[in-house]
Amino acid sequence: MCGIVGYVGDKNAQDFLVSGLKRLEYRGYDSAGVVTFDDDNRATLIKTKGKIADLEAKLMGNKREDKVGIGHTRWATHGEPSEVNAHPHQVGDIYLVHNGIIENYKELKATLEGKYEFKSETDSEVLAALVDSFYEGGRYPLTNAVVQALKLVQGTYGIAVMSDKNPGEIVVARAGSPLVIGVGHGETLIASDASALLGHTKQAIYLNDGEVATVTDKSVEIKTLNAEPVSAKVEEIETNLAAIQKDGYEHFLLKEIMEQPRSLKETLRGRIDLRDGMVRLGGPGLPEKELRKVKHLVIVGCGTAYNAGLLASYYIERFAPEVTVEVVVASEYRYRQAYIPKDSVALIVSQSGETADTLACLREIKKQGIKTIGIVNAIGSTIAREVDGGTYVHVGPEISVASTKAFTSQAIAMVMFGLTIAQAKGVRSGILRPYIEEIAKMPAEIQKVLEEVKGPVWEIARRYKDYDHAIYLGRDTAYPTAMEAALKLKEISYIDANAYAFGELKHGPLALVDDRFFEFAMLPTGELYEKAVSNVQEVLARGGHVIAVTNRADFDLGVESVVKITTSLKIFVPVLLNLVAQLFAYYVALEKGLDVDQPRNLAKSVTVE
Ligand code: F6R
Repeated sequence: MCGIVGYVGDKNAQDFLVSGLKRLEYRGYDSAGVVTFDDDNRATLIKTKGKIADLEAKLMGNKREDKVGIGHTRWATHGEPSEVNAHPHQVGDIYLVHNGIIENYKELKATLEGKYEFKSETDSEVLAALVDSFYEGGRYPLTNAVVQALKLVQGTYGIAVMSDKNPGEIVVARAGSPLVIGVGHGETLIASDASALLGHTKQAIYLNDGEVATVTDKSVEIKTLNAEPVSAKVEEIETNLAAIQKDGYEHFLLKEIMEQPRSLKETLRGRIDLRDGMVRLGGPGLPEKELRKVKHLVIVGCGTAYNAGLLASYYIERFAPEVTVEVVVASEYRYRQAYIPKDSVALIVSQSGETADTLACLREIKKQGIKTIGIVNAIGSTIAREVDGGTYVHVGPEISVASTKAFTSQAIAMVMFGLTIAQAKGVRSGILRPYIEEIAKMPAEIQKVLEEVKGPVWEIARRYKDYDHAIYLGRDTAYPTAMEAALKLKEISYIDANAYAFGELKHGPLALVDDRFFEFAMLPTGELYEKAVSNVQEVLARGGHVIAVTNRADFDLGVESVVKITTSLKIFVPVLLNLVAQLFAYYVALEKGLDVDQPRNLAKSVTVE
């Protein structure tokens, strides 16, 4: 979602602000702005609706040598995308950028209305006015004014604040929205995502909720909102520049699809012991005694993370005895008054580790005294820090808004967690070994499938790009896979795509079959294969335009299009079929000429409710 950058040092601030904002582009935004200050502390504030490239064009006419400033990309929540609603907001002496939502902004605005004339519709401008009201033209230190304001705020924020009366100082604070301070030589940098700092410094301080930092080129002073000093912990940023570049691919999405052999290998590294036929996960930190007692798993996530959880649940139910698995959508679960039995463990699934709804569930579940285990990608993210234990999926930065490599690794990481429970419960190795052996083989099998299907899938995608609707079908483990596949198509190609369990067709969706729809049938071999094939026949009998994706070499049903994969896997075939669906969605969007990596209206990390 929104992005924040800041710079104070001896180099050109505009240069870092723009390059930093570009790095954050993938998070999704609709307007952008920067403010910099010259040696006499005169501000240059430039904002624009649209892309960073538009901002850059505007800055060309306002090239500055300023050495301090803040910048922002905004993803509209309060008020339409427009220049006036873009950040930084300037009120009185205050310049402010804000990620998050100020929930009580209307009440706060009412108290400030006589004193300030508001130009925008945003909650963030109200916060800027509130800070200004405590700042009183520089009568009080900027940090104190920020703290006073934040004490009145309900909601979430990551902010960076400057004043034209406080040269060379940026005040930053966070509550529920990430902020990182990069410590360089003679310069200090600020970003809402460490990737913006790469190439400048590898040393970073991750601010915690409820902390405020006063930043200059040489110092970072952190306090809590209650004025207790906090000693800053400088950490090494784990990502490198190569990981956030396209590596010769036209889009991050294709790069991320194609790098799954490697990213899954990272997920498995050191965790599969083929000699003993065991999964070994250190991160969850649950002793065997506790794992043995687990009777119930709650898996919490949004979107793709939810789909990955659903897929994992089908597998876990097969081999973990007397364990029930419930998979829940975080935005719903946080408001349900669900009873969680005491012998439960909650898996909190999030690529970004910052999703507001998932985070809220985590906090609610913790209040009930239930153990929480993170299945997270972003290292050091809020969810990763707040869970009791966790298993990082280690897929590296996922830049494209549509999640692909994270899905594969999240699902497998959760299956591995299920396997550790089963191991602790003494499930026979004869039952678990086939799962473990297949998991170990998956990176190579993924590599094979991707190479095999890339060309044919592109060809097929060309033929289906102009449809308005798609129905994705699967059953058993291929059903959650079909849900994920449909989500991918809809988010990047804007084709209305829904997934159904094959068995549900006759209960309603079959009525939809006509020439405006195509049907994407996921047909892994297995116990229910023949039943699924019968369901495809029912669709064909009604004139359906079927794309079948299967590992059955002898599949021969006279459908419009077929993608056959060759694999020695038997259990995790749906994960391989999903690769076909990922490529299909990519090529459809590409053929339609759409913005593949940044689909309209969406953001990579959904940090507001
Ligand atoms: C879909 C997609 C989203 C995310 C969802 C959760 O491609 O990317 O549905 O999966 O917003 O995000 P995380 O995993 O960061 O919590």
